[in-house]
Amino acid sequence: MPIIAPSLLASDFLQLQRECDMLNASEADWYHLDVMDGRFVPNISFGLPVIARIKEASTKPLDVHLMIEEPGKYAADFKLAGADHLTVHYEACPHLHRNVQQIKNLGMKAGVAINPHTPVQLLQDILPDLDLVLIMSVNPGFGGQQFIPQSLVKINMLRQRIDQQGLSTLIEVDGGITEKNAAEVLKAGAHALVAGTTIFGNPDPQAVIHNLKHL
Ligand code: DX5
Ligand code: ZN
Repeated sequence: MPIIAPSLLASDFLQLQRECDMLNASEADWYHLDVMDGRFVPNISFGLPVIARIKEASTKPLDVHLMIEEPGKYAADFKLAGADHLTVHYEACPHLHRNVQQIKNLGMKAGVAINPHTPVQLLQDILPDLDLVLIMSVNPGFGGQQFIPQSLVKINMLRQRIDQQGLSTLIEVDGGITEKNAAEVLKAGAHALVAGTTIFGNPDPQAVIHNLKHL
């Protein structure tokens, strides 16, 4: 069964407690939290204090996706705020190996995200160190965008490498996931699906989570 990680970027920020209660009672596995700095991506979302409050309400792991420059400066703060997984962008990290070790030393699962134009082959030498790879299937920065079909090729290629090397690295896919395309994404080799608009834009978000979980 796939791991389902609803992205709270698409939730109602005025009703965060209610949204958390809904997710806790749903079949969702992780909370996906998108942090944007207005520099690495052309948008600003939310940060540490909001995540710390969500941690109090959540009964599930917090999967934090940092779309920020210099993530190493803040890794310890995200641990304190309650992050269970911390994912940094390949494109934002000239010293990626150091960032990954730092995240693991802090006691979090380490993830690396790649933008649509970044080939999965570039992860070859860091792959054995990673708990998860986040394949961006849209350009990061905004919810509600269209899935980029070439992502399927990347997912497939990465899954083959992971299996060939006998690694337990998870492939998470983020952006433009719908009830229509999710089966294809899983067939290509994804283990975890992030979905924002599809879940929170629906009057019955728990039913959508259920449908994604049981594809
Ligand atoms: C985009 C974020 C995504 C976003 C996905 O930069 O990383 O997690 O919330 O939203 P949807 O599912 O609406 O494409
Ligand atoms: Zn995300």
